[in-house]
Amino acid sequence: MTDEPAFDPQLFKAATGRQWQEAAQGWNDHGPMIRAWLKDATQAMLDMAGIAPSQRVLDVAAGAGDQTLDIAARVGPHGHVLATDLSPAILAFARRNAERAGYRNVETLVGDGETLDDAASIGPQTFDAVVCRLGLMFFPDPLAGLRAFHRALKPAGRICTMVFGAPQNNPCIAILVSTALKHAGLPPRDPYQPGGLLSLGKPGLIEGLFAQAGFAEVATTKMSAPFRLASVADYLGFVRASASPIQQILGGLDDDAKQAAWNEIKQKLKAFDTATGWEGPNELLLTAARRI
Ligand SMILES: C[S@@+](CC[C@H](N)C(=O)[O-])C[C@H]1O[C@@H](n2cnc3c(N)ncnc32)[C@H](O)[C@@H]1O
Repeated sequence: MTDEPAFDPQLFKAATGRQWQEAAQGWNDHGPMIRAWLKDATQAMLDMAGIAPSQRVLDVAAGAGDQTLDIAARVGPHGHVLATDLSPAILAFARRNAERAGYRNVETLVGDGETLDDAASIGPQTFDAVVCRLGLMFFPDPLAGLRAFHRALKPAGRICTMVFGAPQNNPCIAILVSTALKHAGLPPRDPYQPGGLLSLGKPGLIEGLFAQAGFAEVATTKMSAPFRLASVADYLGFVRASASPIQQILGGLDDDAKQAAWNEIKQKLKAFDTATGWEGPNELLLTAARRI
């Protein structure tokens, strides 16, 4: 077993950006699966962010834009959505998907969510609402991100973020990470290590960060969002094509060693087989707040 190198936020972020460039096609291809998985939680997130007609909304770490389309529909033709992401390749899918769906109120901007208000087009106090779906936990410095979101919001503007909850309530992710680390010859990792899939799942952590960033009325709602699929193979197909954090861990292995890791992951995930298919539990934290 080798020691993990000390955590370097900038190197980590560069690796995250590269991995999402590679996973962009896979994430977009699995759009219908992701949409079904997150449908209810996304509507709850948009409700909690108070998204309404004619608003200007900032969608951070927008990915291929699945939630962007829902925001565009809610704000309507007199509203505006700015979808941003670290990865140009995945954001290109967001732009294309919005165009194909006929939304003219969507713009995209490549940028790091931790510093995005440095961009000329994101002035201070210019957005009615900010949302970030399954993105903030990948930021090595989520507090910097929340501070940037705070600055971009108009006074009384609302925010809602969605992240994964506690490791015990997201057992498939815990299995994926721990098995990948073992095969990569790396020691077990603190699940709350910055930038990891479960990094913001520690009870009380995200609420504390929101408060430190200056938000008021901070409240988290837990939602169960099980992945219901025909078989474990479908889940693995999704993970292998698009779950960049696992690829990041396995990246240094040769093909045979990678395959051995995936075989063991599959065996373990079969624990979630049901009489009719496969159901992987997931717990999401939806944290909403208001800028004073
Ligand atoms: C799991 S995907 C979620 C995409 C989309 N929000 C969704 O739910 O379908 C995570 C996204 O976060 C983006 N991301 C990761 N770190 C980021 C950062 N520091 N700034 C902006 N985006 C980031 C990735 O490029 C990727 O598109």
